[in-house]
Amino acid sequence: MDIYLVGGSVRDELLGQDNVDRDWVVVGATADEMLQQGYQPVGKDFPVFLHPESKEEYALARTERKTGKGYYGFICNAESSVTLEEDLMRRDLTINAMAKTADGVIIDPYGGQRDLKAKILRHVSPAFAEDPVRILRLARFAARYPDFSVAPETMALMHSMVSAGEVDNLVPERVWQETERALAEHNPQQFFIILRESGALEKIFPALNRLWGVPQKIEYHPEVDTGVHTMMALQQAVVYGATTDVRFATLCHDLGKGLTPEQNLPSHKGHEERGVKPIQEWCKQYRVPNHYRDLAVKVARWHLHAHRAAELRPDTILKLFKGLDAFRNPAVLEKYLLACKADATGRLGLNDKPYPQVAILRKAFLAADNVSTQELQAEGLQGAEFGAAIDNLRVAAIKIALQR
Ligand code: CTP
Repeated sequence: MDIYLVGGSVRDELLGQDNVDRDWVVVGATADEMLQQGYQPVGKDFPVFLHPESKEEYALARTERKTGKGYYGFICNAESSVTLEEDLMRRDLTINAMAKTADGVIIDPYGGQRDLKAKILRHVSPAFAEDPVRILRLARFAARYPDFSVAPETMALMHSMVSAGEVDNLVPERVWQETERALAEHNPQQFFIILRESGALEKIFPALNRLWGVPQKIEYHPEVDTGVHTMMALQQAVVYGATTDVRFATLCHDLGKGLTPEQNLPSHKGHEERGVKPIQEWCKQYRVPNHYRDLAVKVARWHLHAHRAAELRPDTILKLFKGLDAFRNPAVLEKYLLACKADATGRLGLNDKPYPQVAILRKAFLAADNVSTQELQAEGLQGAEFGAAIDNLRVAAIKIALQR
């Protein structure tokens, strides 16, 4: 048997980047031979094994033929006669379809090195179309390697996959998994931009796709287009080092603008509350973890309050903190503020604009959170009465802190 390093680790090594996740392909062996050598079988669909010591993945070289829609219905041939070239041919992108021998020779039958140099994401063969997850993967690679472009023939193929209804059958968990991974990349906006270009965004995330072409008031949004603004805001969230939950909340903060009645444009009064339902629906559809959904809903609902922090009445500021549930979970305030700052500066020409609202709201929160409840407890107040009394103390503390 011959063993080769394959896939992402070969690609990343050529790019001079680390990839701890090494995959191996085994040519000229049967499953029985692998078991005899102590490899442990994993996965029920494909002949993949774990190395007895390193626990890295070793897959028998295989070809695949698709028989069903979406992620289902593959017929796999992993006989020992399958060649390395055949195995590489069923892979998604040329840059992912290279192998390396034990003595360091790169085997590259489909131009992976050429495309790495030219910075092109190109499918290896028509087999790309057999797995719609590859559209998401490609978009994620675009988010990771932002100066790469998509080969026109690959973009055309993705279009035809979308038209054929392939993305309608994606497994929801895979969509979220790829989205979450893309959000963690340096340029997550590229993920959504490429999905949009391919037509897949309209199917997968119509509430987001709808934002392109929706105008906003030029005095607040020099970039005008809501989709463009959303991508700029997401990029700002990355610049601020935001975690993926904050990036997701930033992505979703203006979904309500896609539902503004035509006659109201370019004003978007009420878009905060209108944006809540599309977030809840998308998160339900794709089984997005609750903590992502809850933060995104809070940011959508309350982001204008942060922008207006300098004018808000103390009791309105308290309402905001309660709406965020910040007294029970103070960390949410910082996440919220970061998303709001990304929104405020993710606008054409305003990237470096100061956002003093963060300091104002932090100060107000510190004061409100420091209010002592001891006296109220000593007075024997309970339930709603206790709640109202503490609210009064907090409003008073905010008033003093902000001198309003
Ligand atoms: N692969 C594929 N189609 C898929 C998934 C994987 O062709 N839908 C192939 C590619 O050759 C890929 C390899 O399997 O390089 C390993 O896949 P995986 O480990 O999931 O991805 P990587 O390319 O290693 O990317 P990452 O660095 O994001 O893990």
